Amino acid sequence: MTMDALELLIDLHQPNPRQGPGGDAQTELALHLTGLDPAAPLTVADIGCGTGAATLALARLLPRAQITAVDFLAPFLAKLQQRGEAAGVADRVVPLQASMSELPFADAQFDLLWSEGAIYNMGFEKGVKSWRRFLKPGGVLVASELTWTTSTRPPELQAFWDTAYPEVATAADKMAVLERHGYSPLGYFVLPETCWRDAYYRPLQAAFADFLKRHGHSEAATAVVAEHEQEIALYDTHAAHYSYGVYVAQRVD
Ligand SMILES: C[S@@+](CC[C@H](N)C(=O)[O-])C[C@H]1O[C@@H](n2cnc3c(N)ncnc32)[C@H](O)[C@@H]1O
Repeated sequence: MTMDALELLIDLHQPNPRQGPGGDAQTELALHLTGLDPAAPLTVADIGCGTGAATLALARLLPRAQITAVDFLAPFLAKLQQRGEAAGVADRVVPLQASMSELPFADAQFDLLWSEGAIYNMGFEKGVKSWRRFLKPGGVLVASELTWTTSTRPPELQAFWDTAYPEVATAADKMAVLERHGYSPLGYFVLPETCWRDAYYRPLQAAFADFLKRHGHSEAATAVVAEHEQEIALYDTHAAHYSYGVYVAQRVD
């Protein structure tokens, strides 16, 4: 991706409440499934945090936690910092600009590793494998990941995701990956449509007109909007067949 294309993506996504499908209720449900004591002084990292949708929900739900919010894009972290200050949780949320594949963490540093709609950037298997050592023994990983929700699907949809994200698979396959790499699954659920439509796509679509105006309807900005419209159309047609699965898995030794 050229730098200009990345800057356009940042400019489109930064004003929105979240940069991928999800929701506060689903963050809370996943946290409940970890079995961790919310009143404990937990050490947490939110990897690929964007502007902090899940980070801020976790800071609210875990009043004594210290949360490291990791993203490789500084503008998203700056927005997260502002939101943390507005929510009165900035003293417990530390932004960290780093790549998720080269995290500067110590072994057994965290009780909880969190990652919503982001682990695909390095691939689910590589991510769960390389992040495991950052968890304390018995610590918990929560990651949302593109997942087939039916056992068969239209060939054109299969072909699309096989090319766009070859690791797309069913929940059973994803849990096998977790088990293979030293985790025991504690819980799993599928993000409902509202997490895609109301929480993510609708605010994004509402931002298209201003975004195009800001960039003088340039060819590059128009192409960015068209790509997002295509992604939304794909979801509208095939929502029954895929979603993000939310995986809650404990480090076992
Ligand atoms: C789809 S967004 C999800 C953001 C946020 N978790 C949410 O649900 O709103 C994926 C995030 O991962 C970040 N990201 C992508 N590749 C990354 C990498 N290699 N290292 C760190 N962050 C990365 C992006 O900047 C973006 O903020």
